[in-house]
Amino acid sequence: MQELSKERVLEIIEHYGGDPQQIVAILLDIQVFSGRNYLDKKWAVFVSETMNIPLSKIYDIVTFYEMFSLEPRGEYVIEICKSPPCYFTYTKDVVRWFEEAAGIKMGETTADGKISLIFTSCVGACDISPAVKIGDAVFGGLTANRVRTLVNRCLSGDIKPLVREEL
Ligand code: FES
Repeated sequence: MQELSKERVLEIIEHYGGDPQQIVAILLDIQVFSGRNYLDKKWAVFVSETMNIPLSKIYDIVTFYEMFSLEPRGEYVIEICKSPPCYFTYTKDVVRWFEEAAGIKMGETTADGKISLIFTSCVGACDISPAVKIGDAVFGGLTANRVRTLVNRCLSGDIKPLVREEL
């Protein structure tokens, strides 16, 4: 994926009609198109100036929602649900399984830039908890074996990362 340009960011803003109400969607798209699943600070400043939104408000949004990152992350961001139905049953095991399979700790990215592990809130799959989200896909019914398979599928590119080729 090529690096973001000002023109591309302007296209994203334009796609949402430059509507400040759509700021979360705009920032998310910029993050996805970054190729490293993060919002570079220069784009936060650019959006602030272009849309006349205080930079502090943009940082409030980016720090409030766990799905945003101001630092580069892996091609695959594995989001482990830590909301109560998952947390009280399996989350500790799921974290350990993913950390062992990927060889990193929560919040880290593998050296090859492939996988990051983060926590998230309910991904809407409580009925198949414990669950994780990878890109646009949700995976439930996790076991140690299934986690190993998921990590291997990420490493071999067998799962589609969250990539939008077009708006
Ligand atoms: S609480 Fe984990 S998917 Fe809903």
